[in-house]
Amino acid sequence: AVERTLSIIKPDATKRNLTGKINAKFEDAGLRIVAQKRIKLTKEQAGVFYEVHKERPFYDELCAFMASEPVVVQVLEGEGAIAKNREVMGATNPADAAPGTVRAEFAESVGENSVHGSDAPETAAAEIAYFFSGLELVG
Ligand code: CMP
Repeated sequence: AVERTLSIIKPDATKRNLTGKINAKFEDAGLRIVAQKRIKLTKEQAGVFYEVHKERPFYDELCAFMASEPVVVQVLEGEGAIAKNREVMGATNPADAAPGTVRAEFAESVGENSVHGSDAPETAAAEIAYFFSGLELVG
């Protein structure tokens, strides 16, 4: 089925001017960028987004990192977009990421790992709604 997923190009990547190179990987994989904006999150906004990780030891560090530099939030659309995006991103830890994936090529560490992607249809819907209104999604 055609799906939509929420993608974030993270501070470590925007800082190194990698937005275009990462978008090229998404587009080459057949994903269409149907919404996109560059924003600077506050720690509080990052905290709400990553609420499910609140009890994790890395939560504070994660929120501070996500607020440290601009991010590019985007909606990717395509056949099986959620799984396809996760394939293009590679494993969370760049040390485990397959060659050619975004994280293998660009991520600096498990925390500063260049991209985020929704992990399931329910989280994709919630994460898209956190950043975008329906009017901003242009398929
Ligand atoms: P993401 O897919 O955005 O979802 C949660 C994020 O937490 C993850 O990518 C990493 O950036 C971060 N994360 C996961 N594990 C660790 C860890 N052990 N230390 C620091 N950050 C982590």
